[in-house]
Amino acid sequence: MENFHYCAPTRVEFGRGVETLAGELIRGFGGTKALLHYGGGSVVRSGLLDRMIASLEAAGVAHVELGGVVPNPRVSKVREGIELCRREGVDFLLAVGGGSVIDSAKAIGYGLAYDGDVWDLYEHKCAPKGSTPTGCVLTLAATGSEMSDSSVISNEENGKKRGVNNDLCRCRFALLNPELTYTVPAYQTAAGSADIISHTMERYFSHGTSEPTDSLAEALIRTVLEMAPRAIKNPEDYDARAALMWAGSLSHNGLTGCGRGGHGRVGDWACHQLEHELSGMFDVTHGAGLAAIWGAWSRYVMPSDPARFARFARNVMGVDGADDTAAAFAGIEAYERFLREIGMPTNLRELGLTLDEKQLDALAYNCSFQGTRDIGSIRVLEQADMREIYRLAQ
Ligand code: NZQ
Ligand code: ZN
Repeated sequence: MENFHYCAPTRVEFGRGVETLAGELIRGFGGTKALLHYGGGSVVRSGLLDRMIASLEAAGVAHVELGGVVPNPRVSKVREGIELCRREGVDFLLAVGGGSVIDSAKAIGYGLAYDGDVWDLYEHKCAPKGSTPTGCVLTLAATGSEMSDSSVISNEENGKKRGVNNDLCRCRFALLNPELTYTVPAYQTAAGSADIISHTMERYFSHGTSEPTDSLAEALIRTVLEMAPRAIKNPEDYDARAALMWAGSLSHNGLTGCGRGGHGRVGDWACHQLEHELSGMFDVTHGAGLAAIWGAWSRYVMPSDPARFARFARNVMGVDGADDTAAAFAGIEAYERFLREIGMPTNLRELGLTLDEKQLDALAYNCSFQGTRDIGSIRVLEQADMREIYRLAQ
């Protein structure tokens, strides 16, 4: 087992009605004026926004509102939020929504503690030095942003999507009420489930052994394989929604990476890095982009470690057979079958993209940061490998 850093400081309140605790919790963390940050309107239509305002008012927390965060959240909205918070003297950020809203709030938090343009941090010109305390009410089980150290933002001026990983942005609290996800459409439920599984896979398909972590990872993926179809069939199945919600948080709070390693990185993350270029350039749904790229990536890298893929096939996908390579292929096919069953694409065409040669070049060029970085750990990928995976994913 490798040495590891595990930091999961987010206070979690889980279950029916927990969103009403927001005002009290913000007070407890010293907040006096909150930014109520939300997306394109689902929280208005559901009445959740009004309930959040009531919770803040009951606790004597003043607030200003900023809605309109879009999926693949934009840096322009983040800049607007920073200006608003400075003008209004906001000292706590409350994100009410999915990963995009939480990431936008985290970015506003970084920006408030930085004198220059917040995009500098996402270009990694410098590291964040601080952030404004942030809490969230989650409405979509997917990204794990509610407990993660990550914020991912898109720049509409140059089509780049970039993430910053730093413990500074972790939410002070996450309020997880599975009932708030009853209205999530089937496509978003499926994409969220693919994302949850991917966060665990990215750490699982790397080098090293950490048996407790591997066993937890396998159980988490099996849980999502069972619960996603249930939640899609019956959106108000509380237990299925609850399982997806908690699996989402556990899959990206660092737990499934403890003790695993490889190439100086915890985990592989190639699928995420390949996907972030797709959603940066073409504005696709993150989880669907991951599903579309996974088959090509897994077939490309599997020969580097057939035993690992065979373990996944046997322990997660229920594949039999003694030969590792055959089992590995069967496991890949079984996971792709699952993705199709829940309505996810398994290639770029099904995602709605037909790429020409120039676009393939541009994706690989951007993903390799203009040829300056490699990605992955189970197999390290150079720019040419990235291009080949995009091509194979068509
Ligand atoms: O904007 P509204 O109207 O709220 O609608 C949203 C949005 O259209 C809708 N939605 C959310 N909750 C709903 C609901 N609709 C009905 N009922 C509800 N209860 O769902 C749509 C998608 O929302 P979004 O927040 O974009 O989805 P998700 O949570 O999947 O977030 C995706 C973003 O997070 C990033 C992704 O790259 C992408 O930008 N990620 C963030 C990570 C992190 N911070 O740790 C890790 C991930 O790997 C990922 O990169
Ligand atoms: Zn993800």
